[in-house]
Amino acid sequence: MKVDVLLGLQWGDEGKGKVVDVLTPGYDVVTRFQGGPNAGHTLEFEGQKYVLRSIPSGIFQGGKINVIGNGVVLDPALFKKEVEELEKSGHDLTKRLFVSKKAHLILPTHRLLDAAYESAKGSSKIGTTGKGIGPTYTDKVSRNGLRVGDLLCNFEEKYNRAIARHKEILSHYNFQYDLAPIEKEWMEGVEKLKQYNFIDSEHVLNDLLSEGKTILAEGAQGTMLDVDFGSYPFVTSSNTICAGACTGLGVAPRKIGDVFGIFKAYCTRVGSGPFPTELFDETGKKIRDLGHEYGAVTGRERRCGWIDLVALKYAVMINGVTKLIMMKSDVLDDFETIKACVAYKINGEETDEFPFDVTEGNVEPIYAELNGWKTNMTKMKSENEFPEEFNAYLDFLEDYLEVPIKIVSVGPDREQTIVRYRDFE
Ligand code: GDP
Ligand code: IMO
Ligand code: MG
Repeated sequence: MKVDVLLGLQWGDEGKGKVVDVLTPGYDVVTRFQGGPNAGHTLEFEGQKYVLRSIPSGIFQGGKINVIGNGVVLDPALFKKEVEELEKSGHDLTKRLFVSKKAHLILPTHRLLDAAYESAKGSSKIGTTGKGIGPTYTDKVSRNGLRVGDLLCNFEEKYNRAIARHKEILSHYNFQYDLAPIEKEWMEGVEKLKQYNFIDSEHVLNDLLSEGKTILAEGAQGTMLDVDFGSYPFVTSSNTICAGACTGLGVAPRKIGDVFGIFKAYCTRVGSGPFPTELFDETGKKIRDLGHEYGAVTGRERRCGWIDLVALKYAVMINGVTKLIMMKSDVLDDFETIKACVAYKINGEETDEFPFDVTEGNVEPIYAELNGWKTNMTKMKSENEFPEEFNAYLDFLEDYLEVPIKIVSVGPDREQTIVRYRDFE
């Protein structure tokens, strides 16, 4: 069998958690392959709302194996909090959650380094989630990292060496910190983490594939935050794209099956960095209010704008998307007209290719204007109920992106998900 990959095509928060939960019944295994607690994946069902950070979003559909893959960076302190929240609501995870020995550990000092680097950048700060993601991946690549498997062997010595190194770096920054309380919390997290099975996940996942089991790989962040292809340097520190599932799980490219690309019917971004279709007017505010566009992890206001098809087409290309999923279409239920960016004007020249330089203010979006559907879609159950203007919007996007939109989400609840069966021409 193959690994299907589900990933965000924009700047994150597309609704990955919700859709992974919806698709999980069709799979035996759900696994995260990159990122860490910078992610906040929201799921809603039976009147409950959950936000997952490091734990795969397949955890609520009983009986499935959930794996935190080697490409993930894990903070034991936050992991403990996440697990305890789930335990409180009656979910025991120890038998169905497994952690790769090769996943890297976010140390308490990584979080401090993240904060120190951000404050040193001043106005050019990235606006990270402050979870230590960049410094942890930096240590991984510079061959200084500590991995989950290290917790089982000579850990204290390795930990002390790493902390001493980080303290030395921190001493060059004008940055005050108190390590003791966060270190204590971190060590308590380690004890919790040790209750879980640490596995050689690349072997386990490949064996499961050989046995005919199906795997869904859950991306975090989004393609425009990818460290290679996103709006660098305003990106995260991992490969969020489909290829990241190969390195982040240890599965060969030929074992990748479907690639589900998720996007919102409009566009959002949190943190700094270019966002060509950002709206600073009442329309942007209306989208933010109707879409409740506030970060699941940081509570920060998300920047909002119209859909950017130039960036989206680029993301479809980089990932080899086979099926598209459109989220939050209900947020646009009450607009007279809806715009979609079909090209960029840069230095007087029009292009529909996502350029190297997307410096803020450098790019003027060229819009197509479509009629809004002005219909409450939140209770719809089938594509047969879709208003004409909504179908026209879907057709327009499919024509541009040349990939079928197979699922449409019309609200945050598990039930508010509509599969499209209509053939794509
Ligand atoms: P993720 O990081 O990609 O999993 O997305 P987040 O959970 O950070 O953000 C998506 C937000 O939109 C969450 O609050 C979801 O509950 C919500 N959501 C998901 N799908 C829909 C939808 O179709 N309509 C509306 N209104 N909200 C949605
Ligand atoms: P999910 O999985 C949206 C953004 C941060 C910042 C940049 C770098 O929920 O979609 P980092 O902490 O990774 O070094 O921050 O990336 N960012 C996200 N934005 N959704 C996310 O995850 C994000 N994870 C990181 O806001 O701009
Ligand atoms: Mg999120």
